[in-house]
Amino acid sequence: MLTDQFGRTHNYLRISLTDNCNLRCFYCMPEENYDFTPNSKLMQVDEIDTIAKLFVQHGVNKIRLTGGEPFVRKDASKIISNLGKLPVQLTCTTNGIRIDDMLPEIIKANFHSINISLDTLKKDKFLKITRRDYFDRVFRNIDLLLKNNIKTKINVVAMKGVNGDEISDFISFTKNNPVDIRFIEFMPFSGNQWSSNQVMTQMEILDIIDENYDFTPLPIGPNDTAKSYSIKGHQGSFSIISTMSEPFCSGCNRIRLTADGKLKNCLFSKQETDLLTPLRSGQDILPIIESTIWSKAKIQGGQLNEQFEKINASIIENRSMITIGG
Ligand code: GTP
Ligand code: 5AD
Ligand code: SF4
Repeated sequence: MLTDQFGRTHNYLRISLTDNCNLRCFYCMPEENYDFTPNSKLMQVDEIDTIAKLFVQHGVNKIRLTGGEPFVRKDASKIISNLGKLPVQLTCTTNGIRIDDMLPEIIKANFHSINISLDTLKKDKFLKITRRDYFDRVFRNIDLLLKNNIKTKINVVAMKGVNGDEISDFISFTKNNPVDIRFIEFMPFSGNQWSSNQVMTQMEILDIIDENYDFTPLPIGPNDTAKSYSIKGHQGSFSIISTMSEPFCSGCNRIRLTADGKLKNCLFSKQETDLLTPLRSGQDILPIIESTIWSKAKIQGGQLNEQFEKINASIIENRSMITIGG
């Protein structure tokens, strides 16, 4: 078991496959002409497999593939096929563009669910947020997932002045679509244009929904990031991920591996531990993993919470989201 000094067991590994992406969302990447990490510095297929197996031997039973965009990686199929053989819940967080190309592999690897990042239901706004014109394809792919009975969640980063006016539209979308719409409080990362007055808090989101809908809380698991609600008469549900206003660090079971093979024991930790170099030089990486997890801070989301109105985004010392994978 991979346990930290506060007794939290880590059974959920998030592996970023690449920092490359086919979108350019302003809140995720620092700039349009961002230099992606060269292939030689990325974990290779066999290295991902070796590291994942080691984690599984030590209690990991859920693996999420992230990016950048995981499915832009040319060897994504091979990685998925390898990980699909492990005794884990395999999942991913994707922008949805390449779901059509990857569907056979997704089905074969028995993906438990797919989380799609989609911040607007409007085509012109999609172009403004992502700086790329893929709205129709993402929409078709959500349909494709649902037709294939693959559990689908939609991640919406809620931002005032951007998509804050679409909360009710997203709830209407759940009427005839069995998806879980997950509103995420906007978090600060290096270069992501965050400002405290753009954060839509859980309370504000719930107040908007409460004006027009009758909803009931669903049971919450000890490690869940999201608090979910069913809506009367709707096939789908909605959830709130309240990282900023009500963090969920006490139940954190997550450990992150960046595409260049660095272990991050918390989304907000500045500390990163290189696993790839010692792996390549033949060292036993288990003690490195164990000590990285052991030294995880008790609360980091919480510290942001208490001060979040005073945070100046330019002082945030963290990788940009595109290199962490959420
Ligand atoms: P499920 O397994 O489907 O519940 O997904 P998830 O919430 O673990 O993963 P996803 O990639 O869909 O992330 C949704 C949002 O939650 C993103 O904005 C993540 O950055 C945020 N998130 C996920 N894990 C953590 C975490 O450990 N800490 C914090 N603060 N935020 C997290
Ligand atoms: N704040 C909150 N969520 C974010 N994501 C990306 N950047 C941010 C941010 N600054 C979300 C993406 C994706 C998930 C992994 O993290 O929309 O769905
Ligand atoms: Fe876990 Fe860090 Fe997120 Fe808290 S902020 S839930 S400790 S990853």
